[in-house]
Amino acid sequence: MFELKKIKQQQKQLRKTKFSVGILAAVFLGIILFSISQAWSQQPVVLNMLITAPDAQPWKQGLIKDFETKNPGIRINLIEGPNATNLLEDLYTSAFILGDSPYDLVNMDVIWTPKFAAAGWLLDLSDRLTKKELAAFSPKDVEAGRYEGKLYRIPVRSDVGVLYYREDLLKQAGFQPPETFADLLKISKSLKEQGKINWGYIWQGRQYEGLAAMFVEVLEGFGGFWVNPNTLEVGLDKPETLKAIAFLKDTIQEKISPPGVTTYIEEDTRRIFQSGQAAFLRSWPYVWPLANAADSPLKGKIGIQSMVGTPGNNGGACLGGWGLGISKSSKHPKEAWKAIQYFTSEQAQRRFILNAGFVPSRRSLFRDPKIVAKYPHYPKLLEIVDKAVLRPPIAQYAQASDILQRYLSGALTNRMTPERAMQAAANETRRLLGK
Ligand code: GLC
Repeated sequence: MFELKKIKQQQKQLRKTKFSVGILAAVFLGIILFSISQAWSQQPVVLNMLITAPDAQPWKQGLIKDFETKNPGIRINLIEGPNATNLLEDLYTSAFILGDSPYDLVNMDVIWTPKFAAAGWLLDLSDRLTKKELAAFSPKDVEAGRYEGKLYRIPVRSDVGVLYYREDLLKQAGFQPPETFADLLKISKSLKEQGKINWGYIWQGRQYEGLAAMFVEVLEGFGGFWVNPNTLEVGLDKPETLKAIAFLKDTIQEKISPPGVTTYIEEDTRRIFQSGQAAFLRSWPYVWPLANAADSPLKGKIGIQSMVGTPGNNGGACLGGWGLGISKSSKHPKEAWKAIQYFTSEQAQRRFILNAGFVPSRRSLFRDPKIVAKYPHYPKLLEIVDKAVLRPPIAQYAQASDILQRYLSGALTNRMTPERAMQAAANETRRLLGK
């Protein structure tokens, strides 16, 4: 009897204990769930952006940190891609084709907007900025962000092809800076014969987008054209194009440019020039601060001007540059726009430019006292930017450029005669454009 009572009491006790443990567990679980949800709601929004490797440093130095300090709820995740712009474009393109893009901010080269917009990958930003706000940017940079009247890309920085020369060597030898392709060859030969340099002229000759950018300048200098964006007329099989190719081939044949020039992209060419081996370099303004750095053998020895031409034809300067759009599939378009507003603001651009020597896209910055104090050549650069030529702003640009790169590279590396190569390039381009 006594035993039975004891057992019952024990069972009651056990039920009580189970009940309290249950309550405790539920409370505990509740606390955990509450803290997770709290932590989750305080998680910053992460904006992903893909960028070429050489550009990553200047973005990281200050620009991103400043934005994140001002906006603690937003983080920018910078993903470093390949150096060549066309390879970066391929990565963005495959991501968009696969569906929901992992990128929120789309860091676009000046030539990408028509294709990305035509494919429907970008948010329309037309009503985000007033006319007055847009007027603060270089008109060509803004134009490059439009497609069929709508705006998809806001300029972060501009870019323009320029010719660097060794001011010290030219002065010593009594030469004025060159005006024509013939001057460039003559000065190069002479300085080479005097043993002052190993090479005369360095340019980007690899089969990639930089080859097309470099080539439009030479083409313009010989009075030729690639594609007329209004009529879609193709000029690749015209005599001017063949003259432009002949000039480039001459530089190699006459040993003014190294044989490896047909494999170089921007950074290869900068290293050769900056090591003091060459008299001239065609590149972009980012080279200037690097070549003038305290540890550079060229510090204080270089001049900068626009590309040379032929009598009657001014040299062309290719418009480059980068801007930001928002991926249509981004889950954070509001935060992405906040980031764009900051990165394209005058304050952020000033900092970016002082840091990296990039070309401003805001016109006022070309004459900004702080910027001019560091880069005295900027007011002159604005003149070059205003005259710059666009690569054809057409939706099929990537394919058109690919055709030109392939055949031009074939001609420069003697795999095809320039005539045959350009005939084929012109025909393929006409087929592409439905001509
Ligand atoms: C620079 C220019 C860009 C161009 C590229 C070619 O990055 O800003 O517009 O397409 O060089 O290599």
